[in-house]
Amino acid sequence: MSYEKIFVVGGTGNIGTRTVKDLLQNESNLVTVYARSPKKVRQLFHSPPNLSVIQGDYTDVDLFEKSISGHTRLFLLVHNPELHDMAKYNTALAERAYAAGVKQIVMISGLWAAFPYRSSFIGNAAYEAETAIAAIPNRGMFVTLRPSIFMTNHLWIEIHTIKNANTIFGTIDPDAKEPWISTNDIGEVAATILQDPILKHRNAVYEMIGDVKSPKERASILSKVLGKEITYTQIADQERYEYLTKEVAMEHIKAYDMLLQPWSSETKVSPGFSILLGRQPEGLENWFEKNKAAFL
Ligand SMILES: NC(=O)c1ccc[n+]([C@@H]2O[C@H](COP(=O)([O-])OP(=O)(O)OC[C@H]3O[C@@H](n4cnc5c(N)ncnc54)[C@H](OP(=O)(O)O)[C@@H]3O)[C@@H](O)[C@H]2O)c1
Repeated sequence: MSYEKIFVVGGTGNIGTRTVKDLLQNESNLVTVYARSPKKVRQLFHSPPNLSVIQGDYTDVDLFEKSISGHTRLFLLVHNPELHDMAKYNTALAERAYAAGVKQIVMISGLWAAFPYRSSFIGNAAYEAETAIAAIPNRGMFVTLRPSIFMTNHLWIEIHTIKNANTIFGTIDPDAKEPWISTNDIGEVAATILQDPILKHRNAVYEMIGDVKSPKERASILSKVLGKEITYTQIADQERYEYLTKEVAMEHIKAYDMLLQPWSSETKVSPGFSILLGRQPEGLENWFEKNKAAFL
């Protein structure tokens, strides 16, 4: 049997957990998870024979460099809540990975990277990371996934108002469309690409919108799933900003970014997404059904 050695950074989070589970199902994949907590890795994935774990932080670039030798593919998710070092660490890890012989990197970016230049702080951090990796000389292939708004955001941003006030807050018009994505779908697509022939995806950039719903529609889905009335409350920018900075402890620049409303009536499910997934993307209703216990 010929083996593919796949290295994973960010494998214990929302997206990465799905990617690692899918990769481990194929015994011709030898999967190395580089993680801060080996205990968490074992809890999530147990100890199948094709899993190796290396305890490491992505800021320890020297350890990363030693550990990635011999691998051919890299799943790269640099979760940097402050975003200041997103480009720095994405680039440092990618440079060392390609130099060690990695032939393909699948990197998690965001739809925001495609926003007008420097119009969004979050988008610019992702854009700078992408462009720095793309500019590495003589590199291998570089596939970029650009997901839209995570459905999992409901678990840390909206959960308080859903549970305590039976409402979701937002500044956007009640009927305006917003693009959503299930992190399971992102993780699944990443795993597929990491197992496909490298030349199939070359240097693709895949935008990922799995469902498009207005806040009013989202509230109505939540009402149906939770069996009680959930409303949408449109609030002023100032009120939303205070909620994000005080209740969710978001720093100024990110909370400010969250007030952007770049979506239009043209916003739609990414046309090729079901081809990448091999099925229809997960919708908000299904996601809320699976996670409803958290909101009750
Ligand atoms: N939220 C959105 O709407 C949205 C939209 C588009 C793109 N994104 C991007 O998606 C990414 C978040 O994905 P996610 O939801 O899967 O994240 P997540 O659930 O928070 O998981 C983050 C992963 O990164 C690991 N990690 C964090 N800091 C680390 C460090 N210093 N060294 C090594 N590993 C570290 C975590 O490990 P531990 O288990 O040890 O914590 C975990 O495996 C971010 O890059 C974000 O910018 C988000």
